[in-house]
Amino acid sequence: MPIGFLDSGLGGLSVLREALKIMPNENYIYFGDSKNAPYGTKTKKEIRDLTFKTVEFLLEKGAKGIVVACNTATSAAVAELRVVYPDIPLVGIEPAIKPAVELNKKGNILMMATPMTVKQDKFKYLLNRYKDEADIVPIPCEGLMEFVENGKFEGEELEAYLREKLAGYDSSNTSSIVLGCTHYPFVSEEIKNVIGNDVDIIDGGLGTAREIKRRLEEKGLLNDSHEKGKIEVYNSSDEERFIDLSWKLINL
Ligand code: DGL
Repeated sequence: MPIGFLDSGLGGLSVLREALKIMPNENYIYFGDSKNAPYGTKTKKEIRDLTFKTVEFLLEKGAKGIVVACNTATSAAVAELRVVYPDIPLVGIEPAIKPAVELNKKGNILMMATPMTVKQDKFKYLLNRYKDEADIVPIPCEGLMEFVENGKFEGEELEAYLREKLAGYDSSNTSSIVLGCTHYPFVSEEIKNVIGNDVDIIDGGLGTAREIKRRLEEKGLLNDSHEKGKIEVYNSSDEERFIDLSWKLINL
């Protein structure tokens, strides 16, 4: 039985890549909702409905566990998904603020995410929890996921976008950048180029992969085969390039 992964588009592949490193013998099924992307500018209700639809699709395909590999969908739907599917190992992803705070470096922690993630109570709660320990600056990045969906991981246009978003910040006043959207690890080289090499770039992909592994292990659901697993990729868009691009990102 496969582990199901979902995202509003190609971003969740950055989490799937981490899962492949620690669980190469598992089978995977990935669903990218590129037709309905971006989620980050939709209402909570719209995101919730889309996420439920995808989870149903993955379960119909036989998924034994679900990774909501999208910060935006996690904040809009994960609590409710847990109520509706109490027996399915289900893991979401949220901005990896804790490891950034634990680095204990001087300077701001910049948290790049979609406008929706930044607005949610879940995020406000995280900010509040660490407010005495660190200066966390949310940076809503409307339009950034589209670069990844269009296969642009570097280049002048992306650099100009990032320079504008990160204006005023550099290694003298910034300790780390938390990537609070699963699309952003694919543009992390350009982010580094703009902010400088001394700033740590942190994302929650590996932590999330470890969490689903732990949850499956607990239920005795890990695959004990010694052969490399299979990956199936689906996308809601009928543009073929999304499937091609998905494979490119898996194999990066
Ligand atoms: N990849 C998604 C996330 O982690 C969001 C991108 C979007 O659809 O706006 O938040």
